[in-house]
Amino acid sequence: MGRVAIVTGGTRGIGEAICKRLQRQGHTVIANYAGNEEKAKAFTEATGIPAYRWDVGDHEATLAGVAEVEAAHGPVDIVVNNAGITRDGTLHKMSFADWNDVMRINLGGCFNMAKATFPGMRERGWGRIVNIGSINGQAGQYGQVNYAAAKSGIHGFTKALAQEGAKFGVTVNAIAPGYIDTDMVAAVPAPVLEKIVPKIPVGRLGMAEEIARGVAFLTSENGGFMTGSTMSINGGQHMY
Ligand code: CAA
Repeated sequence: MGRVAIVTGGTRGIGEAICKRLQRQGHTVIANYAGNEEKAKAFTEATGIPAYRWDVGDHEATLAGVAEVEAAHGPVDIVVNNAGITRDGTLHKMSFADWNDVMRINLGGCFNMAKATFPGMRERGWGRIVNIGSINGQAGQYGQVNYAAAKSGIHGFTKALAQEGAKFGVTVNAIAPGYIDTDMVAAVPAPVLEKIVPKIPVGRLGMAEEIARGVAFLTSENGGFMTGSTMSINGGQHMY
């Protein structure tokens, strides 16, 4: 059965692959994006998937954005909280803004999207929320106290909200990707990345589509008994 799905940060990278996969599953997919107009336009032209612009770290803007999507497409039954940024740096060099932007967008975005959609899912008795965490939220990562804290927070957020949604047919799960071949990972300095890849037992970076396949399962009818879990998709880099 086709549902209305929102994927935040949906026009690029992992989000783009998730949008395309959910569209192939027969859902009405809406992509949210924060800033890259040109990429969003090209994405919509290529896929036919509408893209709505708002900052998921902004509470009021998220409530308004979701209301606009629901007025145009109907109630949202599937949410994939994928939007995320990095502001890497060792703590002694990290500014408060670098800390706060990552917490506000990566973790705050999950809260804001849930506030906008979870009550409706609860009332209708069906919903799927998938939060994109990270291997670095599970294991920590040098130079990422902000990102690791936000992603680790996402894993806790997932388990708490899963308990609230369970009796209403709303599942809440996380996926913890490892290093995936996207612009975000391409931004890691080459000498650092060269040391990371040999630590991946499968021997390569992951592909965005490999995360999208996990999302497809968790958002399907078949995923109804799986809630509060973290699905690690990381090529064996961290077995958790
Ligand atoms: N463990 C221990 N020491 C390390 C280290 C590590 N992993 N990485 C760097 N260091 C050490 C260096 O050896 C160096 O030590 P010396 O001065 O004694 O030689 C010191 O830290 C400084 O290193 P840099 O020169 O790299 O310092 P910098 O300030 O220029 O940059 C950094 C620091 C920003 C953390 C940079 O190393 C970096 O960008 N690292 C990558 C962080 C990373 O993996 N980010 C993941 C992004 S992708 C993502 O987040 C997606 C996802 O979910 C997986």
